[in-house]
Amino acid sequence: MKGLILSGGTGTRLRPLTYTRAKQLVPVANKPVLFYGLEAIIAAGITDLGIIVGDTHREIKEAVGDGSRWNARVTYIHQEAPLGLAHAVLTAEEFIGDEPFVMYLGDNLIIDGITSLVEEFRESDSNAQILLARVPNPQQFGVAELENGRVIRLVEKPKEPRSDLALVGVYMFDSSIFSAARRITPSHRNELEITDAIQEMIAMGLTVDPHIVHGWWKDTGKLEDMLEANRMVLDRLTPYNRGTVDKRTTIDHRVAIEEGAVLEGSYIRGPAIIGCNARIIDSYIGPFTSIQRDTVIRNAEIEHSIVCEGAIISDIGVRIEDSLIGRMVELKKAVARPRAYRFVLGDRSVVGIL
Ligand code: DAU
Repeated sequence: MKGLILSGGTGTRLRPLTYTRAKQLVPVANKPVLFYGLEAIIAAGITDLGIIVGDTHREIKEAVGDGSRWNARVTYIHQEAPLGLAHAVLTAEEFIGDEPFVMYLGDNLIIDGITSLVEEFRESDSNAQILLARVPNPQQFGVAELENGRVIRLVEKPKEPRSDLALVGVYMFDSSIFSAARRITPSHRNELEITDAIQEMIAMGLTVDPHIVHGWWKDTGKLEDMLEANRMVLDRLTPYNRGTVDKRTTIDHRVAIEEGAVLEGSYIRGPAIIGCNARIIDSYIGPFTSIQRDTVIRNAEIEHSIVCEGAIISDIGVRIEDSLIGRMVELKKAVARPRAYRFVLGDRSVVGIL
């Protein structure tokens, strides 16, 4: 069996971060979202992986490399434009060949992994297995309608959903998906939808097995989802200390401190992770916060947030919450006169001031 990870596309809902980086590389508990899918596929015993890349191919390749770090082999497959998930599948046809494969959307995260699901598909003789989860907002997903446990209809982002069963971004197919994908036409958003291709498989009389996922799953396309994913992963954090913590610092609850991190005069209430070479000085880091490598937090308070590498936060008089702070961002108290806020904000930045 092979693995196919989709890491092309544009991340419009995570702007401004995605103006300068691939959405699949935004970190969850200090690890790119993409790595969770990659590692889940490898844990299921699949080591021949294809990664669909688009405009952000350089960054993705730099982060993942050739896969040898995971004892896997990674082949990059270039998709000319984000023309849809079924288009991405067709682009990968040569790489997949006749083998069955698992397809994982690079911005999805299933906390319990996919090993048992892959096993189930391997042992079955169905042509596809789709994962479904009950959601409160089905209109934002592909939606499945079941009858007597069988899939009868699939619709992509319906205005009036006929069920609350969303398609989770992990699919298992045999090579019949290619002929189905070739038979469909682009949707109103001008994409070849995987949802339509699976519907086509049903119309062709092929077997599509639904599997309802009860564990936690997230499509991390939006800020709130990113923070929730971060919360879920940190909730399962195993604490460790590989950094330097001075006597004036209190570590409360589960905190992971990576190599070279220095904590002085601070209060860290986990679950939280402090990345390599970060410096946390006279600060409070609250629950569900991920601080990436090379950041400096001085005389500030932050919780339920993600701070990306190289950011500097200092002398902020009010607690920062529910925030996603990009790479190399500087958030500092202004000391120069006249007293004023001074911003350098990229397009679509969001700032809430008191
Ligand atoms: O997250 C689950 C949902 O994913 C499903 O419920 C929907 O049925 C499915 O269409 C998909 O919806 P999204 O609108 O969230 O897909 P998105 O455009 O965010 O793309 C998902 C991933 O695939 C993302 O990592 C980017 C990548 N991608 C996307 C397109 C359109 C590609 O690599 N190539 C593409 O052409």
